[in-house]
Amino acid sequence: MKIIGTGSALPALRVTNDDLAKFLDTSDEWITTRTGIQARHLLSTEDLYDIAVDASVKAIKASGLRPDQIDFLLVSNVANLHVTPGLSAIVQKRIGLTCAGLDINVACAGFVNALMLADGMMKAGHAKNILILCAEEPTKYCDWKERDCSVLFGDGAGAVVVTEGTAFKDVKLTMISDRDVLYYERGMETTPFEKEYIKGQPLVMKGKELFRTAVSESAKDINALLKRNGLQHGDIDWFMLHQANKRIIDGIRHIVGGPDEKYPTVIQKYGNTSSASIPIMLDEMIADGKVKAGQKIVMSAFGAGFVSAACLWEWEF
Ligand code: ACO
Repeated sequence: MKIIGTGSALPALRVTNDDLAKFLDTSDEWITTRTGIQARHLLSTEDLYDIAVDASVKAIKASGLRPDQIDFLLVSNVANLHVTPGLSAIVQKRIGLTCAGLDINVACAGFVNALMLADGMMKAGHAKNILILCAEEPTKYCDWKERDCSVLFGDGAGAVVVTEGTAFKDVKLTMISDRDVLYYERGMETTPFEKEYIKGQPLVMKGKELFRTAVSESAKDINALLKRNGLQHGDIDWFMLHQANKRIIDGIRHIVGGPDEKYPTVIQKYGNTSSASIPIMLDEMIADGKVKAGQKIVMSAFGAGFVSAACLWEWEF
């Protein structure tokens, strides 16, 4: 499998830390030093479906394929307005696709999990050209009267078109069930047979525990992937990590090794866009000519669950 087209889309509204400090008890200094985030984009005049379609159309255009040549649509999304139908069904027609599709929710690790599924589908002969779309609006899970979660996230969409090739070398997935550290409960309808009505609640996060586990599990994944492929950190050109917190990225780098320049970031501009963060960054790096054929690239993400995932590429265009 190889990636032949990428696209991304951010909402028009850019909100800086100073903008947040106007209505939350926070400061640019606190957010920047604790997370590396300086700004994020938030859905306001458009909706998630608009940016999902925008990123997808760009990725298909960049691939050189026509929409009718896409065999399957794989969407990573944690939550959106619709519990049903899935986001893939909602956006399929607007992207110009007629193929089948499905949604996955593997939190912030959705992109790497989708890559694994796409690779498996290709090897099994189910599809040749697959559009992977990661579209997320995590700002809608937060309590905006509180400062602890709302400052961390941004909305965005990233998409890639994958086809047959040999660039995708290996993938490692991990799950450790621990719901209480990070969760968001949406309200559901109540039946007359329930003892107690549970209304749902905004994102609950134990930040320090999440931080520690994100660093240790991601580093473990990456080191295991390197070891089983006979590689050292010096062999890798780019470590494209999920953009949750610059300090988490630094923590992983201190364990795995390698210079800061090999760990690119977009978190300063976009905050944590959940599973969209890696494909958005990849799209920008390809546009900037930073990704070149033959480069070895590691992608790694960690999220609610806990789930973590890492994969290895030897890039091919
Ligand atoms: N502005 C100002 N002060 C704040 C804010 C804020 N936005 N949020 C919390 N604080 C305060 C707290 O109330 C606390 O105050 P207290 O000491 O008086 O009780 C203090 O700051 C906590 O400060 P620290 O202990 O220094 O915070 P820490 O270094 O743990 O950083 C953070 C907090 C940024 C949330 C960190 O724990 C973190 O990044 N965790 C991971 C969170 C994450 O990545 N979530 C995303 C989802 S999962 C994923 O994508 C991997």
